[in-house]
Amino acid sequence: MSKIQNIAVLTSGGDAQGMNACIRAVVRMGIAENLRVYGVMDGFNGMVDGDIKELEYADVSNIIQRGGTILGTARSERFHKKEFRKIAFENLKKIGVEALVVIGGDGSFKGAKVFSEEFNMPFIGIPGTIDNDIIGTDYTLGFDTALNNIINAIDKIRDTASAHHRIFLVEVMGNTSGLLAINAALTTGAEDVFIPEALEDFARFESKIKKAVAAKKSSIIIVSEGDEIGGAKELYNYLKEKNLHEKIRVTILGHIQRGGAPSFLDRKMGTDFGVVAVQKILQEKYNLILGIQNNQMITYTLGDKITKNVSNQAEVLKIMHKLNVF
Ligand code: F6P
Repeated sequence: MSKIQNIAVLTSGGDAQGMNACIRAVVRMGIAENLRVYGVMDGFNGMVDGDIKELEYADVSNIIQRGGTILGTARSERFHKKEFRKIAFENLKKIGVEALVVIGGDGSFKGAKVFSEEFNMPFIGIPGTIDNDIIGTDYTLGFDTALNNIINAIDKIRDTASAHHRIFLVEVMGNTSGLLAINAALTTGAEDVFIPEALEDFARFESKIKKAVAAKKSSIIIVSEGDEIGGAKELYNYLKEKNLHEKIRVTILGHIQRGGAPSFLDRKMGTDFGVVAVQKILQEKYNLILGIQNNQMITYTLGDKITKNVSNQAEVLKIMHKLNVF
């Protein structure tokens, strides 16, 4: 039997759909295994401030279908400093927390790793970010729902774009990862996509736009916020300068991508991750990150590199260009 009796769960970094499903699974699984489960509010800030409360079975009722995170989240500046990490550790010690489940992205995992090395506080990391940029997992929580949000929005934009014969430049999130953008482009039939992982060939782009305008009079171009051009507004300025089309509109989808009810995949993955996180802690298998590879749950130890190498997106881009030949 495991000697662990008290664990805590927190969400950190940008919220992502499926985080609530995961919190629910950690709490319910923990209680079923006779653990006391604490929820840390607002990411690592809650550890520093001692804003930690025990979560009972009913505290996680009716949350599996909700986006956001009932625990709140933050990118904690204070947790970058050792003096605050020490306060955080003392706050956990006071209530006897012996292991952490950290749901978040690369910054959250870096924080958890440093904290575990300094204070011997074991953790299990669960990848939760719409950017899907965590190494070692095919999917992170939130990616699928965010993509569905993007797809729904672009399908609507397509209606008005074709009615008015306009070019729409649609900016999507993703930080330095183009995975939201490229997958949205592939599944909405967008005419082109700008991603940070590939340099755009502007000569190709311009000739393509001209052909697209001549052939179908409207176009959707998806621009990842992290692309070297700087975003949809910057691309707009470029196109205007080149006088490529007079009817261009910019839509920045923004935080709408991160909200709303999680998809089946995010609910299921969040639940599976939560269950396995508790199991690993009970088995005293610590400091692991959970992931999904080829539909199988896997665990791995966090190395120095946390974000994905997504250079192969350039290949996907080539396919995308072929599919949309005019
Ligand atoms: O990391 C998730 C993410 O949504 C990125 O795609 C985006 O760049 C960033 O967070 C936005 O952060 P904020 O909500 O702080 O504006």
